Amino acid sequence: MSLEIKNLSKHFFQGTAKIEVLRQLNAKVDTGEIVAILGQSGSGKSTLLSLIAGLEKPNEGEIHLDKKDIVPMDEKSLTSFRAKNLSLVFQQYHLVSHLTALENVSLPLEIIGENQSLSRAENLLKELGLGHRLDHFPHQLSGGECQRVAIARALVTQPKVLLADEPSGNLDVETGEKVMTVFLNLVRQHRATTLIVTHNENLARQCQRILRLKEGHLVETTL
Ligand SMILES: Nc1ncnc2c1ncn2[C@@H]1O[C@H](COP(=O)(O)OP(=O)(O)OP(=O)(O)O)[C@@H](O)[C@H]1O
Ligand SMILES: [Mg+2]
Repeated sequence: MSLEIKNLSKHFFQGTAKIEVLRQLNAKVDTGEIVAILGQSGSGKSTLLSLIAGLEKPNEGEIHLDKKDIVPMDEKSLTSFRAKNLSLVFQQYHLVSHLTALENVSLPLEIIGENQSLSRAENLLKELGLGHRLDHFPHQLSGGECQRVAIARALVTQPKVLLADEPSGNLDVETGEKVMTVFLNLVRQHRATTLIVTHNENLARQCQRILRLKEGHLVETTL
């Protein structure tokens, strides 16, 4: 699924002070392309992912996924569009606290009515090194384990668009490399259009393009 962003602007008000986060931002990502997004803390990376996922509305601009602008879509159509096409790995994981690791990962498959959701979820968790943590609840998992559950939950539906917010942020170097290798192999296999927000230069180098978010714009960059 291709992504085209046109003149996207987003601001917030903090009291009466206006914080302009994205300013007339433009970007194009082809189907199956894997792009890294770099940028300082507070530059608007997470905000950009929320807008592309349709979780927040911009103040101005268009976000086309396969030529369809999602900005005017209502909540109900967006929810069903997301369930079918798009996954997010949140910076703060957002796991469901009363479900086990295995149930968290199989849930998106159950929502779209897939058979064998439990065994598919289990296989993916095993691939990410969590075969011994299937029945643990989020509060019984370490930060890096929660992060891997969140990654598995995002990948399990084989989404056409994958938005990952610092997916290796809580993993030690060795685990991070292993997990990101599995992650990149899977998104390549499924030709998912992938945006990865990261501070990890090694990970950014494995992406096809690197964009930097600066002063509200995305600019092409190299490392
Ligand atoms: N709901 C909100 N209300 C007010 N300001 C907000 C809101 N959400 C984000 N901001 C502000 O917008 C700016 C961008 O935030 P965002 O979370 O997108 O940054 P980021 O690039 O993801 O940073 P980090 O690397 O630290 O995760 C920040 O200055 C933040 O304070
Ligand atoms: Mg962020």
